[in-house]
Parts: sequence; structure tokens; C-alpha cells
Amino acid sequence: MSMQQGWEPHRLRMQSRIVGAQGAEQSAASFLDPVLYNSPPHRLGRKHGNIFQSYLPLHLTRKVLLFMNIIVTGGAGFIGSNFIFHMLKKYPQDRIICLDCLTYAGNLSTLAPVMDNPNFRFVKESITDRDAVYRLFEEEHPDIVVNFAAESHVDRSIVNPDIFLETNIHGTTILMDACRKYGIKRYHQVSTDEVYGDLPLDRPDLFFTEETPIHTSSPYSSSKASADLFVLAYHRTYGLPVSISRCSNNYGPYHFPEKLIPLMIINALHDEALPVYGAGENVRDWLYVEDHCRAIDLIIHEGRVGEVYNVGGHNEMRNIDIVTMICDALGKPHSLIKHVEDRKGHDMRYAIDPTKIHEELGWLPETRFKDGIALTIQWYLDHEDWWQPIISGEYQNYYQNMYGSRKEV
Ligand SMILES: NC(=O)c1ccc[n+]([C@@H]2O[C@H](COP(=O)([O-])OP(=O)(O)OC[C@H]3O[C@@H](n4cnc5c(N)ncnc54)[C@H](O)[C@@H]3O)[C@@H](O)[C@H]2O)c1
Repeated sequence: MSMQQGWEPHRLRMQSRIVGAQGAEQSAASFLDPVLYNSPPHRLGRKHGNIFQSYLPLHLTRKVLLFMNIIVTGGAGFIGSNFIFHMLKKYPQDRIICLDCLTYAGNLSTLAPVMDNPNFRFVKESITDRDAVYRLFEEEHPDIVVNFAAESHVDRSIVNPDIFLETNIHGTTILMDACRKYGIKRYHQVSTDEVYGDLPLDRPDLFFTEETPIHTSSPYSSSKASADLFVLAYHRTYGLPVSISRCSNNYGPYHFPEKLIPLMIINALHDEALPVYGAGENVRDWLYVEDHCRAIDLIIHEGRVGEVYNVGGHNEMRNIDIVTMICDALGKPHSLIKHVEDRKGHDMRYAIDPTKIHEELGWLPETRFKDGIALTIQWYLDHEDWWQPIISGEYQNYYQNMYGSRKEV
């Protein structure tokens, strides 16, 4: 499907149960927001900044201020690290503080290229540790917080939901409590299209809009949806200047090997079986990670406070087609593909309608899938030193538990 065809208004329009379309009124209200109004003076720039900082929207603040302090949580993971690279490149004067407790999915070696940058700081703490989070806010007085930190793998959430509640929900509220206490220009929550549940395969005319009701399937998506509800509640109740992005599946460099695309690339390189859930007909809407990072950058600077923005590339692909494409690109036989017992409650189709972010903020994806997947495969070929240590350790136990005992179908 071409990009233009994708913008056709065949959209799923349902009454929102949670998303208030508060729009311009709230944007204006945020200027008088008590959180901003009461911001302590140390927030006026990096301790000696500019009075305008507390009263202007972010894109105007950028015009009068030379720098911002930005806390990026979960920045040692896949999307967070790509976001840090994007921000340090585009705003070299900004200070980025990465807060990450380095779970199995966090990898400090990913951040090696920026570790010596004087405008970058890495802090190994958990977003669930209130004292540590408050301490960091006291030290850094952030202007913006972008929360990527999460337990992010659906399969793991099916095995152990508890940690998803703790990190994805409680961690989010602790971060927002810190934002309330110390003052903030913007809190941004990185969410997912999975909060909308799934769409039937035989209705290609349906897409998720920001008004589609929340209708989750897995413990992972339920925890993300709960966090979104808290984010919107903190905006309405406390006037916290928040925004939320709900993105489709990302792919690109530094993607942890348990996820579909890197898993298949690495297994194919080793001539190992390529385990595909069920018939592999599940459809996902794939977006190159850099396009997601640009979308978040736009939303935090120019997006309206209190709003949700869907982010997706109108690039729907069946899992089985992705896997055969990877085989072909690496010159591997399709006989490596093994259909295994399906994931419990497996969502059939995700499809995002990104009209709102396109019309309001001018965002469009820039990387076509055929280019993005070629870049990604080449990246994994060139960076064995990054993924080899990951797949040789604890990950092997996980892999055996997850796929070792799954029946072939
Ligand atoms: N990957 C996707 O396709 C996708 C799509 C849409 C939305 N998202 C969302 O984007 C965010 C990032 O996803 P990702 O794929 O980069 O995840 P990831 O699993 O690669 O990285 C998560 C990072 O969060 C860190 N982390 C986990 N718990 C933490 C805690 N308690 N305190 C501090 N740090 C903690 C981990 O160490 C890791 O570095 C998640 O919130 C996810 O829900 C992901």
C-alpha cells in the first residue's frame, strides 16, 4: 500500500472511553498551570537559565534558551537509546540524563558512543525507587522527562505479570510524582498501539485512531494502558503537562534479540530454526525506530499538552512474510521456518491511523520498509560484537524456556 493511500479516512471511529479531546483550551491552560507557575527558580535553565523557560511552550522556549535538561528513562534499551542518539545529534547543547536500572533488556554497551559526551549522564537506578528518582530530579532539575522505561515483552508478561505492574504502572506514577514535586515543562509517556487490542484480519478498512477504546489483550498491554490512564489522570487532576505517543512495532539497530526481527536474523545467520507462532498470519504495522524518535521529538516540542498521538507508518506486514523476507535477504532456505504453538491470546492485527500527528505536527515516516529492513539486517551483520554477548548468557535460558518446549504445528 502506498503512503498516500494509507491516509484515506477508512478509520475505526468509536467513542473514546478515556481520551479527552481537550485541545487548545488545555494548551492555553498549561501556561497558567500551577505546576509550572510554582516551578522553583532553579528550573530556570541549567541553574542560571532564562526566566522565559517556565512560561513559554517548549518550541518557543527553544528559541530563547540555548539548552534543556532532559531525563530519558529506559535509555539503555532499544528505542530509548536510539532516541538519545537522535537528541544529542539534533540538540548538541542539551543535557541528556539517562535513567535506567539495566534489566536483562538494558545494555550499557549500547550507550558507549555517547558515554564520553559531556552533555550526557548515565544513572543506574530504577524508576520504581522513589528516593532515587527524587534525588535525581533535585540534582538535575529536568525540563522534560521522556519515559521509555518498561518491561516490554508480551511473552514475558504472560509468564510473570507482576513485574509489569510494578515497572510499567507504579514506575510511571513515581516519575510523575517527581514531576509534580519539582516542576516540569513536559512529561512524555511512550506508549503502544497494543493498548487498543487487535483488529480482525478480514477488516482491512479498520484502523486504530486516538478515539478507539482501550481494549487490551495481554498483561503487557494492560499495564501500558493502565499507565496511560494514570498519565491522563495526572493531567486532569494535577494539571501536569503530559503527552502520550502510541506507536506501532518498531525495528532497527539495538533491538533486543528476543523480538521477532532480530531473533529471526540471528537464528538465520546460525542456520537455526526460525520459530513462527501459529500460521504466522498475524499482522503488525512496522516503523523504523528513527521515525518513531522524530515523532516523539516533535510531540514533546510542539504537541498539545494532555493529548495522545498515534504513531505508525501504514506498513502492515504478516509475520510470516517478514521471516521469509529475512531468509531471502540472507540467502537462507525457507525450510528453516518452523511453525510452533501460538502465543496465548495472540493479537491478530495492529494498524495505526496516524492522521492526527500528520495533520497537527506534519510528521510522516521517512524510511520505507524495504530500506529500513536492509539497514537493519546489515546492522546485525556488522555488530555481532553487540548481540553475541547477549545471546550467550542468561538469554539462552530464556530462549530454551520460551521456544525449547513449544510443539511444532
Ligand atoms: N519496541 C516496540 O516495538 C515498541 C512499540 C511501541 C511502544 N514501545 C514502548 O517503548 C518503550 C521502550 O521499548 P523498547 O522496545 O525500547 O524496550 P526495551 O525492553 O528494549 O528497553 C526497556 C529499557 O527499560 C529499562 N528498564 C526496565 N525497567 C526499568 C526500571 N524499573 N527502571 C529503569 N529502567 C528500566 C531496561 O533496562 C531497558 O533498558 C516501552 O515503554 C514500550 O512499551 C515499544
